[in-house]
Amino acid sequence: MQIKKVGVLGCGLMGSGIAQVSAVAGYDVTVLEQEQKFLDKGFAGIDKSLAKFAEKGTLKEPVEKIRARLKGVTTQRALADCDIIVEAIIENVEVKKETFAALDAIVKSEAIFASNTSSISITEVAAATKRADRFVGLHFFNPVPLMKLVEVVRTIATGDAAFETVYEFGKSLGKVPVRTSDKTGFIVNRLLVPYMLDYPMGPFTLLDFVGLDTTYYITQVMFDEFRERRFASPPLLKRLVMAGWYGRKTGKGFYDYADPSNPIPMKF
Ligand code: 3HC
Repeated sequence: MQIKKVGVLGCGLMGSGIAQVSAVAGYDVTVLEQEQKFLDKGFAGIDKSLAKFAEKGTLKEPVEKIRARLKGVTTQRALADCDIIVEAIIENVEVKKETFAALDAIVKSEAIFASNTSSISITEVAAATKRADRFVGLHFFNPVPLMKLVEVVRTIATGDAAFETVYEFGKSLGKVPVRTSDKTGFIVNRLLVPYMLDYPMGPFTLLDFVGLDTTYYITQVMFDEFRERRFASPPLLKRLVMAGWYGRKTGKGFYDYADPSNPIPMKF
C-alpha cells in the first residue's frame, strides 16, 4: 500500500520528532494529543528544530510549506483516513492496548499500526487489535530529526507486506532502517542499556538526554524479562524518577540545567 497520510499519537519528544521528519519527507501528518497545550509545546519544538535546519540550508522546501502539512488534533476520529499510525505515547502497556483497540474501530482497516515503544512487547499490544498482521514496531532515536537509525520490528503475526511497507516508509524519512524481531530491547537498547548502567561517568549526560523516566521504565521491563542483575535499576535512578527529575527535559537529573548551556553536576 502507498503511504500518504501519517497519524502520530503523542506530541512529546519522540512524537513531535516523528511528526517533523514525516512532514519534511512530504507526508500529510496529523498528530493526536490529549490536550491542545501538549500540541502547542510539541509544535514549538518542531518550529525550533526546523529553524535550525533552515538556517543551515538543509531543507528542500520553505519551512511554511512543511508546517502546512502538519496538523494537531485532540480527537481520535481525526485519524480515520490515515495510512499509518505511529504511536509515541506513555510507556504503559495497558494504555497502549486501550488506545490501539479504540483506534482499530476508527481507522480504516487497511491502515498499518506502528509503535515507537522501546521496550514493550509489540506482540502484546498488537493482540489488542484485529490487525496484528498489519502491526509493527518502529523505534526511532532521540533526537529523531538527527538520528539516522530506526528499528523496524516484526512480530510472529506481522505480515510481509506491512513489514516491508514500513521498512520503505522508514527509508523515505531519510532514516537507515534495520529489521529486527520482537525481543525485549530489540537491538539497540539490548546493547545500550547495560552500557549506560555499567559505566559511572560518561553516560550520565546521555541518560539525562534520553530521559531518566524512560530509562527507568526500560530497566524494569528488561529486568523482568531477563532476570539479570545488570538490568536492575540502581536505587539512585529510581529516586531521581520519584522526585520528578527526569533529566534535561525537566531541568534536573544527574545535572542541573538552570542554564542549559552550562549543566552543573548535581550533588547527591
Ligand atoms: N533539530 C535540529 N538540529 C539540532 C537538534 C534538533 N532537535 N538538536 C541539535 N541540533 C543541532 C544543533 O543546533 C547543533 O548545530 P550546530 O552544530 O550548527 O551548532 C548540532 O545539532 C549539535 O548540537 P549541540 O551543539 O547542541 O550538541 P552536540 O554537539 O552534543 O550534538 C547531538 C547533539 C546530535 C544530540 C549529540 O549530542 C548526539 O548525537 N548525542 C547522542 C544521541 C543519541 O545517542 N541518541 C540515541 C539515544 S537512545 C534512544 O533514543 C532510544 C530510546 O529508546 C532510549
